[in-house]
Amino acid sequence: MNKEEYRFAFEVYDSIEELSKQDAWLLNEARGVTESAYAPYSNFNVGAVAKLANGEIVAGTNQENASYPVGLCAERVLLASASTLYPHIAIDAIAISYNNNNGESNHPISPCGICRQTLVEYEERVKQPIRLILSGMEGKVYVIEKSINLLPLSFGSVDLK
Ligand code: THU
Repeated sequence: MNKEEYRFAFEVYDSIEELSKQDAWLLNEARGVTESAYAPYSNFNVGAVAKLANGEIVAGTNQENASYPVGLCAERVLLASASTLYPHIAIDAIAISYNNNNGESNHPISPCGICRQTLVEYEERVKQPIRLILSGMEGKVYVIEKSINLLPLSFGSVDLK
């Protein structure tokens, strides 16, 4: 028997003020775009903004539906748009924020399982890691070097060969 270990480190900043100018800008955009979320059921407005390798900026917000499972997360709305507008272009970084109308918005959230799977496939496709900048409307910021760090032992296209 062998034991394998999976570890990853990520950066923790006390606030947006500690970020580089570019990362702070992207996070501010993500905070702003939460306004465009359609989340009348959860009242949890999520905004995601990506900087692509070609310099373009693409945003996504969560889009809910009266038939709850139909709803889409901000991250997957963003990835679908990026892939449609700029196919084959890598994504350098995505900032994700949220505004919780039912409570606090002062700690980072990280993508749900389905979004992690989608992020990982994007990285694989364009052969470049996606940095994640995670924060609420205020407070701490987590920076994760690549999305695959959030999905160890992931299932991927290679498994279908
Ligand atoms: N949501 C996102 O858009 N992204 C996440 O990372 C977590 C959850 C959305 C889904 C749903 O519309 C609402 O937040 C509450 O779960």
